[in-house]
Amino acid sequence: MIEIADPDAMRTWSRAERKSGRTIALVPTMGSLHEGHLRLIDRVRERVDRVVVSIFVNPLQFGSTEDLGAYPRDLDRDRAAALGRGTDGLFVPTAEVMYPAPAVVRVVPGSLADSLCGAQRPGHFEGVLTVVMKLFNIVEPNLASFGRKDAQQAVVIRRMVTDLNLPIEIDVAPTVRERDGLAMSSRNAYLSEAERRVAPALARGLDAAHEAFLGGERAVDRLVAAARAPIDSEPALELEYLEVVDPVSLAPVETAEAASIMAVAARIGAARLIDNIILGEGTGADPRVGQ
Ligand code: PAF
Repeated sequence: MIEIADPDAMRTWSRAERKSGRTIALVPTMGSLHEGHLRLIDRVRERVDRVVVSIFVNPLQFGSTEDLGAYPRDLDRDRAAALGRGTDGLFVPTAEVMYPAPAVVRVVPGSLADSLCGAQRPGHFEGVLTVVMKLFNIVEPNLASFGRKDAQQAVVIRRMVTDLNLPIEIDVAPTVRERDGLAMSSRNAYLSEAERRVAPALARGLDAAHEAFLGGERAVDRLVAAARAPIDSEPALELEYLEVVDPVSLAPVETAEAASIMAVAARIGAARLIDNIILGEGTGADPRVGQ
């Protein structure tokens, strides 16, 4: 596995690979790799000749009161994990090389950031799209893979690729969960033991709504009520949003359909956790997530 910190060197390596006829996939991450990230590597490994994993905690996507400083970082562990899953190239730039000057020109997500996390975290998706665009321009991959836990992120990235004619295929992979249903996330590291016991209530809430949906319920207020029951029973969970949205426009809907996304965000202690389900998934409804 080659490790590269310089964007020009990264592009030179990628171009040499492409020139030799090899295809490249990029798995963009902020490090603190967990099984969810590693499954992204496994997925793209099957489809391309070279896998590049980028590790960069992107300051541009953190608000001034958010957890940029506290975000878990462990490059030695990440390096071993990425290597263990067959990564060919590790791209580990510093903030100084990614943003040698303030990022004046940025990619904006427009109305796609009006709901869910976009409404709660002003500027977040602008920061995500800008860094992902930079990573795409540096690595020039054929394929890039993202986790569906960040459903809104996957939708805005797919839309950027479409709207800006980027020649890159976007793969969106199912959420990987702990045994008790908690969606894997680097931010789970913030949870105390007691909070960790409470956190799976979010996934239980989504499951309850999904059961109701499979039982024929389509009214969003009743699906939300079904999801809230397990969540509200845990006072430590402070709900930020619980919404059902269209999988392409991300606009809230009143009547759910197969492939609508039910998404939740909640604070617990120092952590802000997000999760979602695709209603009807597993019953022939395609998880569309932005397409
Ligand atoms: O999902 C993440 O870890 C980040 O938002 C991403 C896509 C690597 C951009 O910084």
